[in-house]
Amino acid sequence: MTLLIQKCRLMDPASGRDEILDILIEGTSIVKIGRSIPAMGDGCEIIDASGLVAAPGLIDLHAHLREPGYEYKETIRTGTMAAVRGGFTSVVCMANTNPVNDSISVTDYIVKKGKSEGLAHVFPCGAITKGLEGKELSEVGEMFGAGIVALSDDGRSVKNAGLLRKAFEYAKLFDLPLISHCEDADLADGVVHEGRASLISGLDAIPSIAEEIVARRDIAVAKYVDGPVHITHISTAGTVEIVRDEKKRFQKVTCDTCPHYFTLSDEATLTFDTNTKVNPPLRSQEDVAAIKEGLRDGTIDVIATDHAPHDAPSKDVEYTSASFGISGFETAFSLSLALVHQGVLPLMELLRKLTVNPASILKLPLGELKEGGAADLILFHPEMECTVDKYAFRSKGKNTPFHGFSLKGKNLLTVVDGAVVYRDENYF
Ligand code: DOR
Repeated sequence: MTLLIQKCRLMDPASGRDEILDILIEGTSIVKIGRSIPAMGDGCEIIDASGLVAAPGLIDLHAHLREPGYEYKETIRTGTMAAVRGGFTSVVCMANTNPVNDSISVTDYIVKKGKSEGLAHVFPCGAITKGLEGKELSEVGEMFGAGIVALSDDGRSVKNAGLLRKAFEYAKLFDLPLISHCEDADLADGVVHEGRASLISGLDAIPSIAEEIVARRDIAVAKYVDGPVHITHISTAGTVEIVRDEKKRFQKVTCDTCPHYFTLSDEATLTFDTNTKVNPPLRSQEDVAAIKEGLRDGTIDVIATDHAPHDAPSKDVEYTSASFGISGFETAFSLSLALVHQGVLPLMELLRKLTVNPASILKLPLGELKEGGAADLILFHPEMECTVDKYAFRSKGKNTPFHGFSLKGKNLLTVVDGAVVYRDENYF
């Protein structure tokens, strides 16, 4: 299979390249990047990409694919169909499946299913503790052998600091990043952010310190063992400040945020729309501004989706009982492009946070456009207007607070391993 992409604006954050070029793909690799590359033979598909940007396929280091166990919410097939529509060619799937991914058999299952049914590359994240219960370490070494790329008890923090220390030591042994969900369970006894909006709604609230206290502790433990820590889905001004400050002395701390934390504030929860219920919760406008500043000044390395699809019965209930989570794959990139339109980030910097930065944290040989490199790429239009339609989602999870939003910028074509796995039928 040969694919020739002509006249795209190639943007590659790893090399800094930004030029109008052609890309020739053979098999699963990029074989040539240059000007006016001739088509090779009859079997070569030619794509005219004039006016479009070509970037490395996006890499999501935090998503929930729900399989095994919650196939009624999402499967590896539907989740990756949604991922590639959104421009993500690689996804890291969290361990809160059923059974939990805390053993070689579950990791093996996900890896095999990812290869046989996934449209994107699927990289499992192993649980830090068995059953996510915070009591006993999982089979880290065996899961590593089976293909996990990170460790996380996402959905909760490891309460026992002694166990966390051991987890960091194990993670270091296998050179695995530990992805830390920062939430003090005793402080986080609520459903929305503790602030002005929660005073109005009367809903039980989660204060910012529930996140910040654990971020401080987890970075302190990581520093003590001198191992890498990645603070995930940061949502508060305080956490941005903690990471900014720690980065001055400790190079092994990285972090991500998600599009909902720089797009919506807790005011959105005043609608009582359960699609605004997410963990950590949507925070204040001051927090939103601080997250944007953290993205701008480089404190926040990565934008992840935290794609958390849910079935309708989990959301069509009153706010307190609804599940936490937003279906994020199919809106994340367009929402992120708003940062460029608002002047928060140059396009190249935005792409860096979605490609080479997550690749380097996960130590994956992906996230670059180069000759000899993987043929994982997207073609997108940074200005094209689009309206979010949850009924058009490929994800089973229609749980988005962005339904009906008008956004600027859209992914139009996705290539994984040299194959076109998504194309916008209205455009091509
Ligand atoms: O909102 C969330 N949903 N936050 C999490 O940490 C877990 C996730 C889920 O699994 O639904």
